[in-house]
Amino acid sequence: MRIDIVSIFPSYFDGLTLSLLGRAQDSGLLQLRTHDLRDWTHDRHRTVDDTPYGGGAGMVMKPEPWAQALDALTANAEQHPTIIFPSPAGEVFTQEKARELASTQHLIFGCGRYEGIDERVFDYASSLGSVRLMSLGDYVLNGGEVASMAMIEAIVRLIPGVVGNPDSLVEESHEDGLLEYPSYTKPSTWRDRPVPEVLLSGNHAAIAAWRREQQWERTRTRRPDLIDGAASDQ
Ligand code: ADE
Repeated sequence: MRIDIVSIFPSYFDGLTLSLLGRAQDSGLLQLRTHDLRDWTHDRHRTVDDTPYGGGAGMVMKPEPWAQALDALTANAEQHPTIIFPSPAGEVFTQEKARELASTQHLIFGCGRYEGIDERVFDYASSLGSVRLMSLGDYVLNGGEVASMAMIEAIVRLIPGVVGNPDSLVEESHEDGLLEYPSYTKPSTWRDRPVPEVLLSGNHAAIAAWRREQQWERTRTRRPDLIDGAASDQ
C-alpha cells in the first residue's frame, strides 16, 4: 500500500517510523510519504490560508496549494487513489471502514488546519480519486494530523502480513461488533485480586463461554449503542 500525507506540520508523522508501522515500511508492505503543503505555495511567506468569504472567525486554507499537491501526488499513480480529508464534519471512521480501506492500494490524507479547507478542493479532488471526509468522533481536534495518524495506524495493521499473529486481529474489540473480553496474566493473585477462577480451570469451552458473556456484559454497560448491530451480526 502507498500512503501520502499532506500537512503543514509533516514532522507530526515522524512517529510513524516506529514499531509496527516502521516494520511495515521496512518490509515493503507500506510506502509512506509525508509532504509539506507549503512546498506547493509560490509566495515569499509560503501562504496557505486566507480570510473567509462572508466573514467569520478564523482563516480558511486556500485551494490552489491543495490542488497542486493533489495533482503532483496523483500524476504518476498507477491506481485511482482514495483521498481522505479528516474532518469533524465527515462520516465516522470505524473498524469496518478501516477494513475496507486496508484493501485499497493508494491512500492520500489531506490534513486541514484553521477553520478548514476551501470547499471547492473536495470537488476538485473527486476528479482525481474517491474523496472521503472522515471524522474520528464527535469532538474537535486542532487539525487533521492526529486524526490521520489514528486512521493510518488502524488501517495499516489490517494489511495482511503487517501484524505477526493474525489471530490477534480476530479477537479484539469491534471485530465482531462487541468489546473485547478482559485479559489477565501472572501472578494468579495480585495485591489481593485473584484472576477469575474459570481462566485457571483449563476448560476451554467454559473459558470461551465466560469470555463471550464478558463481551456482551461490557458492551451492554459501556456501549449500549453497539448492541443492536452486534445482535444482528451473531
Ligand atoms: N479534525 C478536527 N477534528 C476532527 C475529528 N474529530 N475527526 C477528524 N478530523 C478532525
